Amino acid sequence: MSQKKTKGRPWRSWFPLLVFAIVSIGMYLKNWKQLDLVTQSVAEFTVSNQQGEEEKVMGGNQNRTSAEHGKELLVPQHVDGGAFVHLGKTGGSTLSQFLRNACHSFLPKPCGVIPNETLISRLITDYYHVPDFFRLSRKIHSFYLVSLRDPFERTVSGFVYGHPSNAPLLGIGMMDSWKRRRKGYFPPTCFETLEEWVQNLNTDDKFDEFDYPYLPVHMVQTNCTNFARAMLGARIKRMTHLFFNYQKIQSMMPHNATTTTADTTSANHTTTTTAATSPWDHLTVYVTRNEHLLDDFASINQLLLGDENSTTFDPSVLRAEQHVRNVSNLTLPVTRELSDKGRRRLCRALQPEYRLYITLLRHAKNLRNEDVQEALAYSQSKCPDLNWNLLSLQ
Ligand SMILES: *[C@@H]1O[C@H](CO)[C@@H](O)[C@H](O)[C@H]1NC(C)=O
Ligand SMILES: *[C@@H]1O[C@H](CO)[C@@H](O)[C@H](O)[C@H]1NC(C)=O
Ligand SMILES: *[C@@H]1O[C@H](CO)[C@@H](O)[C@H](O)[C@H]1NC(C)=O
Ligand SMILES: *[C@@H]1O[C@H](CO)[C@@H](O)[C@H](O)[C@H]1NC(C)=O
Ligand SMILES: *[C@@H]1O[C@H](CO)[C@@H](O)[C@H](O)[C@H]1NC(C)=O
Ligand SMILES: *[C@@H]1O[C@H](CO)[C@@H](O)[C@H](O)[C@H]1NC(C)=O
Ligand SMILES: *[C@@H]1O[C@H](CO)[C@@H](O)[C@H](O)[C@H]1NC(C)=O
Ligand SMILES: *[C@@H]1O[C@H](CO)[C@@H](O)[C@H](O)[C@H]1NC(C)=O
Repeated sequence: MSQKKTKGRPWRSWFPLLVFAIVSIGMYLKNWKQLDLVTQSVAEFTVSNQQGEEEKVMGGNQNRTSAEHGKELLVPQHVDGGAFVHLGKTGGSTLSQFLRNACHSFLPKPCGVIPNETLISRLITDYYHVPDFFRLSRKIHSFYLVSLRDPFERTVSGFVYGHPSNAPLLGIGMMDSWKRRRKGYFPPTCFETLEEWVQNLNTDDKFDEFDYPYLPVHMVQTNCTNFARAMLGARIKRMTHLFFNYQKIQSMMPHNATTTTADTTSANHTTTTTAATSPWDHLTVYVTRNEHLLDDFASINQLLLGDENSTTFDPSVLRAEQHVRNVSNLTLPVTRELSDKGRRRLCRALQPEYRLYITLLRHAKNLRNEDVQEALAYSQSKCPDLNWNLLSLQ
């Protein structure tokens, strides 16, 4: 009898499935757009020309300078306008509330109405976060606002935030359980907690020596040392904020750290790699420190206003208007807990990150020497074992 009933109204059985399928495909595409755009697996990309209009370019473009691993690099264009480089877990979302153009490139701009708008909000034209970091190399902005945070703190937050066991509770990525089944086996084969991750980095301190010949979207845990180090070394895309670390961002800047020059004068044609300059050398950089987020933002505004207007910019206006998501009530399965031994090891592993972090602090036009020293003292309290004299000299 019941069989007959279903036969009479077949849509009853498949209609919910169809709705589910459409919603799933929609969500998947949305997710894909946000995360996988970075790899540029498609041979189609958009370039913003000097007028700021989006221009679609298909495949073979005459203006490309070099093609490497299928990535098309264009000669960076000078643009009149600032950039906000929002590194993950640095307070950048809080700043975004005060910036009219701080939304992903695929959204229309301005993306927000800002009451009591600051000057910096009017001057920043481009926003660089996860889906748009790859665009950094294409433009040279008149200035850069970069949100910073102590590398140890940022890394711990990045791990806790991105961990597949926490992500659903934090409301990120409904598709995560799907992805986990489809693409990887994390967790729990190698490690679940922060402590276990750091343990797997191993004792020999050769953190950059690992063998992980897999695509960043995959998570292969056959050798846990390799997997743990690959995660630290920005090779696991699932851990978005570990993937886009200081080193990765620097490598994506228009002029990056090491310039390889072919020494043509030499008879034996040696290629000399000069660890010449930092890509930030040629750029105007302002930074916010996570611990002084709104005060730094206010001081940058004051700096941009110059002597012309003597009214002091009051950060309390920002403080009153900010909306910060309070997640302190949530009990997350994976916490920031780390033993003293683990902390020391993670600090050593983050030495290259600290080097670039210090470089950025030094380049910041809005920080006085005391501000840099304060930030360094904070980092030193997190990682007392690092050779701070040496790090500060570089
Ligand atoms: C390509 O270069 C030509 C001049 O060589 C220039 O007119 C054109 O705007 C460039 N196109 C892009 C997309 O940069
Ligand atoms: C703008 O700032 C003033 C204080 O300087 C405040 O009284 C006012 O409510 C703010 N306006 C909005 C729309 O937030
Ligand atoms: C795992 O990888 C590490 C680092 O590449 C290597 O030293 C170690 O021998 C590997 N272990 C096994 C069991 O293959
Ligand atoms: C960054 O440097 C590497 C080598 O040092 C080079 O291959 C790459 O093209 C550079 N990227 C940009 C955007 O200049
Ligand atoms: C070739 O390069 C080596 C260093 O790599 C250098 O010592 C040597 O003088 C070079 N020879 C010539 C002829 O330039
Ligand atoms: C300075 O203030 C005046 C009015 O108080 C305003 O019109 C002008 O745009 C301000 N200058 C800058 C650089 O913001
Ligand atoms: C978040 O909420 C907790 C209590 O639930 C409170 O103690 C804490 O001060 C709040 N943090 C912020 C930044 O509002
Ligand atoms: C945190 O939880 C307490 C009680 O469990 C509740 O009263 C409070 O409103 C919560 N705070 C937030 C920010 O959700």
